[in-house]
Amino acid sequence: MNMQIDAIAKTRAAISERLLITGATGFLGGSVAAQLIAYGYVSQLCFLVRASSPEQGLERVRTNLSLHGVGEVGRMSLNANQVICGDLLDTSWLEPESARLMTIDRVLNCAAVASFSKNPNIWPVNVEGTFAFAKAMSRMPRLKRFVHVGTAMSCGPDRDSLVSESWRFPQAEAQLVPYTASKAEIERRMRQELPDLPLVVARPSIVVGHRTLGCQPSGSIFWMFRMGLALESFTCDLEEKIDVIPVDYCADALINLALKRHLRHDLYHISAGRDAACTFSDIDQAYAAACTTQPVSERYQKVGVEDLPALAADFESRIGPGNPRLIMRALRLYSGFANLNYVFDNSRLLDEGISPPPRFTDYLEACVRTSRGVAITQQMQWDFK
Ligand SMILES: NC(=O)c1ccc[n+]([C@@H]2O[C@H](COP(=O)([O-])OP(=O)(O)OC[C@H]3O[C@@H](n4cnc5c(N)ncnc54)[C@H](OP(=O)(O)O)[C@@H]3O)[C@@H](O)[C@H]2O)c1
Repeated sequence: MNMQIDAIAKTRAAISERLLITGATGFLGGSVAAQLIAYGYVSQLCFLVRASSPEQGLERVRTNLSLHGVGEVGRMSLNANQVICGDLLDTSWLEPESARLMTIDRVLNCAAVASFSKNPNIWPVNVEGTFAFAKAMSRMPRLKRFVHVGTAMSCGPDRDSLVSESWRFPQAEAQLVPYTASKAEIERRMRQELPDLPLVVARPSIVVGHRTLGCQPSGSIFWMFRMGLALESFTCDLEEKIDVIPVDYCADALINLALKRHLRHDLYHISAGRDAACTFSDIDQAYAAACTTQPVSERYQKVGVEDLPALAADFESRIGPGNPRLIMRALRLYSGFANLNYVFDNSRLLDEGISPPPRFTDYLEACVRTSRGVAITQQMQWDFK
């Protein structure tokens, strides 16, 4: 038994509580659900799912669980009574579902519109709908903890790395994208306006792949590394670091934060931190080893954001067929975050006894293996749905 599971198992002995997971049809929420099933929590789980019936919601959760490696026995052990149908865009379901919500002890709130684009649902879902849900939960007498999944990038662009946890945010206009602005605003509102909510905010850094399943659960962001290496150019220096964690590590950390009896803080990074963040050069070498090719380091060129359009002539030959405007938009958006060169301090998390994260390069081979035969532009669809 590794340290991570050990901590969860110890916590479990004391509880027979009901856990509500939101976002279980997505990347993080799916991994949280898969891990909790693996740890024996099946009968205690409840899911908030967008669906027209509990049966359809259950089917959606099961389909995602299979991507997260949950076998038929685990998937079939869930039933439709565990599903609450609800959309954070229209929270009229909260009132009729209040009796069931009253039975919930702990919430793992993984639902959100997690998009860097200008999706009109970002603010209504991530701020208004999430606030209405959190407000309703704050009135539930059994609720012991509400773990809200934020994002470490909501700290804004002007922080010094190593970035430590802080409740201070820049003005919304200073945020790189509406998504991070929305994630900052909902944290601020819950904390200031819902004093009865037993809120713990967990802010993951950049979640890429799964330690053993690689990109099977989601190819989110991995395509960006493939793209930069295929182009042999990007806006980062090879010696700069990037803070990446695998989804199953993130899920275990979220579960620990949800179940642990006592926590020292109400805000945590879930990140690679100083010890496990990799340089782009490390990533280049691990990627080349996994592909049995040569690293691109000798040919690699760091370019400015203003130089990105010059790469477009090579898109087709290096990346494969795809919409050049979408590729350019993606390069611009993701370079904004990569250029921050942030590493997020994870000492609070480690001080809780949660095991240290792996390095991206430790499991990058699984991401390469599970991306074989998947075109870069096809994998990109995980983030441009
Ligand atoms: N992935 C990362 O690198 C990363 C890093 C830091 C923080 N985070 C945070 O982690 C959380 C989960 O992100 P993710 O990567 O797992 O995103 P994801 O794969 O896109 O999943 C999002 C989940 O939210 C649900 N959702 C979206 N709109 C909803 C609505 N109107 N009502 C109810 N549920 C809704 C989705 O349900 P449907 O299936 O019905 O659409 C899905 O289950 C987000 O809060 C995000 O900010 C992610």
